Amino acid sequence: MLKRGRVTAETIVAQNDLHADFGGVVPELASRQHARAITRSISDVLRQSQLSSPAKDLDGVAVTYGPGLAGSLMVGVSAAKALSLAWDVPLVAVDHMEGHLFAGTLMSPVDLPSLTLLVSGGHSQLIEITEPGRYVELGGTLDDAAGEAFDKVARLLGLSFPGGPEIERVALLGDGSYIRFPRALSGDTLDFSFSGLKTAVLRYLEIHGPVNVNDVAAAFQEAVVDALAHKVGMALRKREYRSVVIGGGVAANTLLRSRIEELCAAAGVKAVIPPKRLCTDNGAMIAAAGAFRLGLGQVAALDIGIDTSLSL
Ligand code: KG4
Ligand code: ZN
Repeated sequence: MLKRGRVTAETIVAQNDLHADFGGVVPELASRQHARAITRSISDVLRQSQLSSPAKDLDGVAVTYGPGLAGSLMVGVSAAKALSLAWDVPLVAVDHMEGHLFAGTLMSPVDLPSLTLLVSGGHSQLIEITEPGRYVELGGTLDDAAGEAFDKVARLLGLSFPGGPEIERVALLGDGSYIRFPRALSGDTLDFSFSGLKTAVLRYLEIHGPVNVNDVAAAFQEAVVDALAHKVGMALRKREYRSVVIGGGVAANTLLRSRIEELCAAAGVKAVIPPKRLCTDNGAMIAAAGAFRLGLGQVAALDIGIDTSLSL
């Protein structure tokens, strides 16, 4: 819950443990768990907020309607419709990725023009924002998203899901400096490509037999972060930006965060690096994007559906 752009109450119900044994999110399990957890999350937030009357005190209810898994989106959208009806407040439909873009605004004002690196389980994008709500994709992924690469490589290394935090954890114990994985940095485009890197890790494991997993994780993390930072640096050389924002689950990565900070300091650009809990999926970022959309008068009809492949 937000009040004037500040978080007044929040809860996150993660279900990573449920999917860990499967090495990735199992859609059927995800939607069932959403159905179980959603009413408890809503009542938790209401209790924390201590609003005397949500119907009187809330300006609207924001919900993600895409992109993502159909069953999970449907649980959220149905619950938000029920709240909107019960409290007679506007329903606001939010693009999940716009939510990630807005996480930074919960920390500090984002000066425009801004360059955003959006890196999650399903997306790797460099986005330029010159005016509020207008997004221009400067580069995207040609194959795997950055988070997907972390998850797949973690699986190859026998680490659990989600792979990003696991790789980060074991990389701290390793030294990847003697392994050099490819970066796919070539060319003048701002697009990313991570499938070659994943294949290189697979090849390395096949050739070298039993390896030090910590070292391989460290070398892999270095290669991903290098590739992301390289493209951010390229974009900064192409145009003058007033801020660089990072968002999405991979933006919780400590090495990436420090690399972006260094890049921005060197370029004299403000870096907006949200705390880690606002980088991975959360409701506060959806409320922030929802407040922006509501401010533009964009209220959703109560028969709105979901859009699993929505794009910014
Ligand atoms: O944004 P997010 O929570 O969910 C999606 O919208 O996809 O991102 C999840 C992704 C997963 O692929 C996960 O492995 C990755 O973000 N991730 C990380 C870290 N924490 C989460 N990747 C690298 N380092 C991390 N610390
Ligand atoms: Zn996300």
